[in-house]
Amino acid sequence: MMTEKRSSNWILGISAFYHDSAACLLQAGRIIAAAQEERFTRKKHDPGFPRNAVQYCLREGKVSLSDLSYIVFYDKPLVKFERLLETYLAFAPRGITSFLAAMPVWLKEKLLLKDLLKKELVGLYEGFKKSELPPLLFTEHHESHAASAFYPSPFERAAVLCVDGVGEWATTSAWLGEGNRVTPLWEITFPHSLGLLYSAFTYFTGFKVNSGEYKVMGLAPYGRPKYVKTIFENLIELKSDGTFRLDMEFFNYCTGLTMTNGKFDSLFDGPLRKPESPLTQREMDLARSIQEVTEEVMLRLGRTLHRETNAENLCLAGGVALNCVANGRILREGPFKRIWIQPAAGDAGGALGAALAGWHLFENKPRKVCTSGDDMRGSYLGPSFSNEEIEQFLKEKNAPYVRLSDEELFARIADEMASEKVIGWLQGRMEFGTRALGRRSILGDARRPKMHEP
Ligand SMILES: [Fe+2]
Repeated sequence: MMTEKRSSNWILGISAFYHDSAACLLQAGRIIAAAQEERFTRKKHDPGFPRNAVQYCLREGKVSLSDLSYIVFYDKPLVKFERLLETYLAFAPRGITSFLAAMPVWLKEKLLLKDLLKKELVGLYEGFKKSELPPLLFTEHHESHAASAFYPSPFERAAVLCVDGVGEWATTSAWLGEGNRVTPLWEITFPHSLGLLYSAFTYFTGFKVNSGEYKVMGLAPYGRPKYVKTIFENLIELKSDGTFRLDMEFFNYCTGLTMTNGKFDSLFDGPLRKPESPLTQREMDLARSIQEVTEEVMLRLGRTLHRETNAENLCLAGGVALNCVANGRILREGPFKRIWIQPAAGDAGGALGAALAGWHLFENKPRKVCTSGDDMRGSYLGPSFSNEEIEQFLKEKNAPYVRLSDEELFARIADEMASEKVIGWLQGRMEFGTRALGRRSILGDARRPKMHEP
């Protein structure tokens, strides 16, 4: 039997089991709460089932699992499995090692994902029965990204570009957002991926894939674009419309457990940098070069999409849309009047997109465009704590503290920062997405060279 609340359109979106697990709660299309699991477990990019994030979202909405109309998962595991199998067959017998390494996980967990999800959800609350669970729906990975980019944006009509590593098959996808629909236009599929190309350089420069990409972007201004030509001549065939193909001879991610191979090494002056070893000019030059290549691809894709859709606005999502330097160039040099980027552009935002796709695409509910700001409400969608709750916690832990008025606090913080102290700052609801936007931030004085040191 449907509860009273179940008919009032509560939808839970979930992304999990890859990286950046998250949950998001909607009521009648309005975002009530969204959070990443890593913020609760303190495991960066936590890929597990987002039990804390789900529990938080339901608490924030004051609803239970049985009140939900349905739960939407952010990708289609069976299609992903098909990609894994087909990739293996295309390269067989090369790749047997990574195939064998991946298979047990896939067979045990991912193929039975629906059962696993149900088990995890039922396990969230004592005494909760499987029969009380709402129906489960699945969206496609890039559909989730596209929905997360368009629906909360302040645009009635927009071109939508999603660029990431890979979901099921798509690695780059173009959409038209209009009214309450996002309509697919075209896509580029695995293994040809701008996100994976960038990650290959992240790996080669000694950083962690799916995590250290921002370090590569940060390193780029210190380098010279020395390898741009080498990249274009060997790794990526870029057409004038921005579509591309990678030469898989240089990469190992289809067949091995690494991103690059010996051919890649010889192209870029020797083996990869060992993680944590000193950075050299070569890494900075590599970073600058792949950054320039990425910007060029994004600019061309943007121009093509503009020509095809005649849209004034552009929405972006997918991990590559976290590359704010490339986004800045699209804004300054591209043909669009305005651009809007999903703050949780990576896979965490897939939870939000999946829920919104459930509401607008599956339910066909109309969309009311938010004209002041956007529907993400500054992306402040996570938990908050009152002063009383914080004080209670500190007392329980026997932690030393002082309570200051705002006036005293700001002066004190300014003094501490001026004397090269680092401040942990918490106020209001937590940000959803990778960026610290003043609610959970680490503050330091940017004028001091010491503050830049690792
Ligand atoms: Fe993605």
